[in-house]
Amino acid sequence: MKFFIDTADLNEIRELATTGLLDGVTTNPSLIAKSGGNILEVIKEICDVVPGDVSAEVTATDFHTMLREGQKLAKLADNVVVKVPLTMDGLKTCKALSTDGTKVNVTLCFSAAQALLAAKAGATYISPFVGRLDDISIDGMGLIADIVQIYASYPALETEVLVASIRHPMHLVEAAKMGADVATLPPSVIRQLFKHPLTDSGLESFLKDWEGTGQSILEPNTSDEKRERAQ
Ligand code: E4P
Repeated sequence: MKFFIDTADLNEIRELATTGLLDGVTTNPSLIAKSGGNILEVIKEICDVVPGDVSAEVTATDFHTMLREGQKLAKLADNVVVKVPLTMDGLKTCKALSTDGTKVNVTLCFSAAQALLAAKAGATYISPFVGRLDDISIDGMGLIADIVQIYASYPALETEVLVASIRHPMHLVEAAKMGADVATLPPSVIRQLFKHPLTDSGLESFLKDWEGTGQSILEPNTSDEKRERAQ
């Protein structure tokens, strides 16, 4: 399963990219606005930091302008994926861009029927929003199960299921159990994934017992340590 980070905050992206666990980035107009930066500059910088797919969203709503925006965004870097909303014009744009070899992420998907349309339009990714469905008392993960099942029935459809609007680690775990291809995670959820109280208490007691032995794996001032310090 691929892990994308769902933010346009370059500091967060740089820091979490050091884990080696990030396969890509998703942004949207709200996240770009929150970053306070210029979309073209922000996307270019993100593409330099993360070599995987970086989604950059168009902001027009008519086909011709969306297409021009998408073509401009795609030229920013080889790893840009153009993000379009799931509207009729958005899917026309998806079809045109994907036919020309540009990767497209179709966003704001809230039904299995929409996901089927996006796959037929040649989307590289479909982004169903689980958290926003949960917010209105509709089962977000149920939608993921439906899309995964439908896509699996038609091997010719190559669209990957990118679970979006994730709010907590259980969304990720459920998505993984269902075989979703990608999860895009807010930085706060990525940090939560590492945490478990039993890991913390277990480590604390290991370290306390170890301290009692008076041993040290590395001898202080060994040549190893000197070399590490010099680097
Ligand atoms: C995905 O591509 C979207 O940017 C994102 O997941 C939306 O999440 P939200 O519902 O928390 O805004």
